[in-house]
Amino acid sequence: MNVCIIGTGYVGLVTGATLAELGNRVICVDNNQEKIALLNRGEVPIYEPGLNELIATSRQAGRITFTTSIAEGVKSSEVVFIAVSTPPKPDGSADLSAVAAVAREVAENLNGYKVVVDKSTVPVKTGEKVTETIERYSREGSEFDVVSNPEFLREGSAIYDTFHPDRIVIGCPSRRASDILVELYKPLDAPVIITDINSAEIIKHAANSFLATKISFANALARICEAAGANVEEVTRGVGLDNRVGAKFLNAGVGYGGSCFPKDVSAFVSISDELGYDFRLLKEVERINEEQIDFFFRKIKDTLWILEEKTVAILGLAFKPNTDDMRSAPSVKIIRKLLAEGAKVRAYDPKAMEKAREELPDIEYCRDPYQAAEGAEALVILTEWNEFKEMDLGRMKKLLHQPIVIDGRNIYDPERMAALGFTYCSVGR
Ligand SMILES: NC(=O)c1ccc[n+]([C@@H]2O[C@H](COP(=O)([O-])OP(=O)(O)OC[C@H]3O[C@@H](n4cnc5c(N)ncnc54)[C@H](O)[C@@H]3O)[C@@H](O)[C@H]2O)c1
Repeated sequence: MNVCIIGTGYVGLVTGATLAELGNRVICVDNNQEKIALLNRGEVPIYEPGLNELIATSRQAGRITFTTSIAEGVKSSEVVFIAVSTPPKPDGSADLSAVAAVAREVAENLNGYKVVVDKSTVPVKTGEKVTETIERYSREGSEFDVVSNPEFLREGSAIYDTFHPDRIVIGCPSRRASDILVELYKPLDAPVIITDINSAEIIKHAANSFLATKISFANALARICEAAGANVEEVTRGVGLDNRVGAKFLNAGVGYGGSCFPKDVSAFVSISDELGYDFRLLKEVERINEEQIDFFFRKIKDTLWILEEKTVAILGLAFKPNTDDMRSAPSVKIIRKLLAEGAKVRAYDPKAMEKAREELPDIEYCRDPYQAAEGAEALVILTEWNEFKEMDLGRMKKLLHQPIVIDGRNIYDPERMAALGFTYCSVGR
């Protein structure tokens, strides 16, 4: 099939590369000329495991191309995906200006029946607005259907997730459109759920909000466990093995971050307010998440007391392992608090340092965890990269000025750390 993907970010590029690998002819469009120039030179502007190789193979085979022209993409495709950013506005609602701009340009370039698929995460009723926009700006009689096909990939394992989705949700107004998408996704062998557009849009916000709720629940448990002298890992394991609950996303730590959970929860709260429902449960989820940063920062302060002029080594900047994505990473808030109290920060992350420099220009970036630790008063873990789990802790202890580890991701065993002679502090244990 001929497919156009508008937006070459984490979602658009991975979707494009996967569909090309499955044998489709894919045109990827972005209004960021620099990104398109990079892609046309064979470079990939984001880090996602396996993505470089996947794009290189399809590029060589001529199955994937890159352009800044929506007209070119739309005119030569039967299915047009919208995968542009939908960032949060200051009031928490989703900024849909990119979706609106793209819908208008798609409308102006319709040349025969198209399925216009919204893959960006959007509030319920956006599909109706996109349909109205295309009707308004297209030539009379243009044939199209607007479909909601939310994306559930996780950064860091996005390629695997796209080839092996738990489910494919297609919110669709017509059989004609759903048949085309079912055909497109046929090689993936995943359960397909066909719904109306509004339900599909709500599925995405509800899924992310539920996962964020699990994380905040685990963080609330961590607070109780610390106060009671219990161990949150044992508690969440005991709870999570009940298959009605499930163990995933039940980890205490520094709270959720990233480009999706914070913005999707606040957008869901906002659209619920607009629809006349006060989603207090989710407001509390957000409050617990914000408090978790302060709670963790207090641990650093309680351990080091006066932070002025003290050097703190930070391991992990990305909001999760296996990505370079720094959007709403908890590390940014924690490091800014450290800097505000006069601490010096030396940081290391395997992939996110280049992007981190944009948000955190005033810290020292190091070539590896050991260089970051040299002479520091404490080591603070903020992202659970495997590299940190496998570190030589004996060497680390010798390099640190004080053998203090404050672990926001609970990656080490407290007993082992005590036996190695560290002052070790984690979350809820
Ligand atoms: N990143 C994830 O893990 C993830 C997972 C599921 C869903 N989503 C959703 O998918 C959407 C895209 O997310 P992302 O992480 O890929 O974002 P991103 O910021 O990485 O990529 C978006 C791309 O869209 C381009 N763009 C913006 N406006 C444009 C326009 N008018 N015309 C052409 N291109 C334009 C940007 O230049 C950028 O390259 C968002 O709605 C997000 O919530 C993201």
